[in-house]
Amino acid sequence: MNIFNEKVAIITGAGSGIGKGLAEELARRGAHVVISDISAERIEKVADGIAKANGKVIASMLDVSKYDAVKKNIDDTVTAHGRIDFIFNIAGIAIGGPAQDVPIDDWHKVIDINLYGVVYGSSVAFPIMMKQGFGHIVNMASIEGLVPFPNSSSYAASKHGVVGLSSALRVEGADHGVKVSVVCPGYIKTAIWNDSKMININREKLVSELPDWSGITPEQCAKVILRGVERNKAFIVVTLFAKLLWVLHRISPNLAIWIMKMVHRDARKKGIVKT
Ligand SMILES: NC(=O)c1ccc[n+]([C@@H]2O[C@H](COP(=O)([O-])OP(=O)(O)OC[C@H]3O[C@@H](n4cnc5c(N)ncnc54)[C@H](O)[C@@H]3O)[C@@H](O)[C@H]2O)c1
Repeated sequence: MNIFNEKVAIITGAGSGIGKGLAEELARRGAHVVISDISAERIEKVADGIAKANGKVIASMLDVSKYDAVKKNIDDTVTAHGRIDFIFNIAGIAIGGPAQDVPIDDWHKVIDINLYGVVYGSSVAFPIMMKQGFGHIVNMASIEGLVPFPNSSSYAASKHGVVGLSSALRVEGADHGVKVSVVCPGYIKTAIWNDSKMININREKLVSELPDWSGITPEQCAKVILRGVERNKAFIVVTLFAKLLWVLHRISPNLAIWIMKMVHRDARKKGIVKT
């Protein structure tokens, strides 16, 4: 059964990577997709592709770190379609670097987009869905929202925040027909690995050290996410490697921290981390 056919789905950060993969897959499954991205050029290109494939799409430029803009996007969708069935809060950025080298402005940027962007989308959609008596909020975190990763303090803080927010909302939404899932992927082969700011990190070496087998494409990731949504999973952990890390961390948090300490030490020895 296709639960997405003729449903209304908002997707942020749909101009590239996982958001784009989700928008295209949902449109293929017959959903009315309301897509947005901070890049007008990217989102228009994605919308053109969906429309050419006979998908039902509305696209706009949107910066998820602006509350009024996020609210307008959701309110406009309710006005146009009369309801929202799904919201996928996907937009995000990454800034990597040893904790001592990350300026406070970069902290603000990561928290504003990765955490507040998801807070805004969730907190506007939640009461609307409560009133409807149905709806599903799908928030993008990361395996870094569940397990400690070095050189990633601001990103990890933002993603742990998304996990906490989503778990709390899931509990509160349960008696009102509102479902909430959080997505925690491992390595997904998207532009984020080339586009993100890296401070005192040798990007080429870091990316070349990522085991290719541990990663999947954004299109594969989108399908795994939608399977998790169909099953109403609380945590949609994507990639086998991420699942193994999550299990390890739950069995022994101290062992997981020790392993990550070794990984960090090794990265410094190899010159991947420069300070
Ligand atoms: N790629 C991975 O390995 C991976 C792993 C775990 C989690 N994630 C998360 O998945 C999400 C999507 O990442 P991706 O890998 O597809 O990256 P991506 O760079 O391919 O796509 C991210 C999209 O978000 C948009 N965006 C950035 N800031 C925005 C803002 N303020 N408002 C609206 N849109 C904005 C970008 O323009 C881009 O189109 C992110 O939240 C990321 O943290 C990615």
